[in-house]
Amino acid sequence: MLLPIANVLTAEQVAHCRARLESADWADGRITAGHQSAKAKDNAQLPEDSDVARELGAIVLEALSRNSTFFSAALPKRVFPPLFNRYAGGQSFDYHVDNAIRYDRSGGRAEALRTDLSATLFLSAPEEYDGGELVIEDTFGTQSIKLAAGDLVLYPGTSLHKVLPVTRGTRLASFFWIQSMLREDAQRRLMFELDVSIRRLTQSVPEHPALVQLTGVYHNLLRRWAEP
Ligand code: NI
Repeated sequence: MLLPIANVLTAEQVAHCRARLESADWADGRITAGHQSAKAKDNAQLPEDSDVARELGAIVLEALSRNSTFFSAALPKRVFPPLFNRYAGGQSFDYHVDNAIRYDRSGGRAEALRTDLSATLFLSAPEEYDGGELVIEDTFGTQSIKLAAGDLVLYPGTSLHKVLPVTRGTRLASFFWIQSMLREDAQRRLMFELDVSIRRLTQSVPEHPALVQLTGVYHNLLRRWAEP
């Protein structure tokens, strides 16, 4: 499932992140690339342990924790500390699949996280740059994604994806991975659709007795499938 989520960050939060990123110390993006993807990758990235990455990452994580659509679609078990990247002057990232396992070293020791879902949070407005589309290939076909600043796209970690060359302006984004309580994309999609339909029914027929039953089905499926 590929899902755009609008307004994850407010305009004020986007402006704050961008101001901090402008004065940050950037490094070559190959620092977090695997052996194969290093050949495809050409961008700048904040080092994982940089103060700016940690400060802004905390803002993103806090925003995600309040976003019910993100929770419902990802059913997150753990979220990797958000990273930040920058593309300009023709930079791009050719087709690759993200590493299956990432090591989160933010707590002092390396904790393995399975990358069930990938996320990109756009921090530049689409009109500020040419190119830079995130192209994602999966069972849903090929999708070209370029969202408003503050919006996020969630997609399966199994997808082949690339970032097209940025031929004008600068593209700033945050990106990270999520280990879900549900390993399979098909299960996450079913649970998301069930949750969305329960919410719609709760709005239009809040007193209907079948809602209790349906909510029970949701939780009993989750109990059956989840690895919390
Ligand atoms: Ni990637």
